[in-house]
Amino acid sequence: MSAKRRLVSGMRPTGRLHLGNWLGALKLWINLQEEYETFYFVADWHALTTGYEDTSQLRENRRQMVIDWLAAGLDPAQSVIFVQSDVKEHAELHLLLSMITPLGWLERMPTYKEILRELEARQISTYGFLGYPMLQAADILIYRPYGVPVGEDQLPHVEFTREVARRFNHLYEPVFPEPEGLVSETPRVPGIDGRRMSKSFGNHIELASPPDVIRERVGQMITDPARVRRTDPGHPEVCSVFALARIFRATETDGIREDCEHARVGCVDCKAALAEAIIEALRPFRQRRQELERDELTVEKILREGAERARAEAAVTLRRVREAMRL
Ligand code: TRP
Ligand code: SF4
Repeated sequence: MSAKRRLVSGMRPTGRLHLGNWLGALKLWINLQEEYETFYFVADWHALTTGYEDTSQLRENRRQMVIDWLAAGLDPAQSVIFVQSDVKEHAELHLLLSMITPLGWLERMPTYKEILRELEARQISTYGFLGYPMLQAADILIYRPYGVPVGEDQLPHVEFTREVARRFNHLYEPVFPEPEGLVSETPRVPGIDGRRMSKSFGNHIELASPPDVIRERVGQMITDPARVRRTDPGHPEVCSVFALARIFRATETDGIREDCEHARVGCVDCKAALAEAIIEALRPFRQRRQELERDELTVEKILREGAERARAEAAVTLRRVREAMRL
């Protein structure tokens, strides 16, 4: 048995990841690998809650995302890396927990109402979509973890999970610890249009982009709108290029600010320097990614072995759950 405390987290298979995903959840996951016993999975069932109509890209998206995970530094020697639908125990626990969970807890979830409104055009008033946090609670509790590293938007789901755990423990036997949400302090990562970087806005820069595409995307970025001429002083605090420079040119930040405010540098050159810094930061990533892409079997093997290890842990929890419920 590992003496390390355990963490569990999942990501929906959105395909190739972008800078925002990397600087947010993925770096957090990677940084936690050493100190904790970590379980990370592709939440492919969760992808069906809003995307059940067109599943044609599901497998490819899963593969591309896992390649990005590995290339960025998720290490199968340290973390258990697997696909949710390979571990059927999640589904059994989901069913059992659904029996004790009041409908009102799900209907009240802020994420539920929000997304329902956002995706009004699509038919997602389904049982599965309402049950999204229920499935997530099962994903988490099946490993009886200490914590769940997630983005801030997911904290209501972690709180929901704690409530479900409490209710189960109260009704039957204390099987589940109440997991903590672990949130990283991530810098705001703007996309090329200045809004939060997101695949759904189409304003993202993929980690797997070739250098020329990175140069092109950074070149399209919105800068300080008040800076019309090269001789106008700029306002770095409102400029997205500067926000990314803070991350990728961290040691030069003060100089960039001064040069911009005194119009000593033009936006074209400033962007070019940022692009090169991003390309440089992703150099090892690109190399590992190329190797993994050529090597189809390795990724599949990692996922197969991960699922086996996950299943063994999940089975222990389920035995306790069945026992506690007198099944
Ligand atoms: N809902 C999470 C997201 O959108 C993905 C997820 C599914 C998850 N199951 C999980 C995260 C369990 C943490 C733990 O990002
Ligand atoms: Fe932004 Fe750089 Fe232009 Fe200043 S010089 S406005 S920081 S792109």
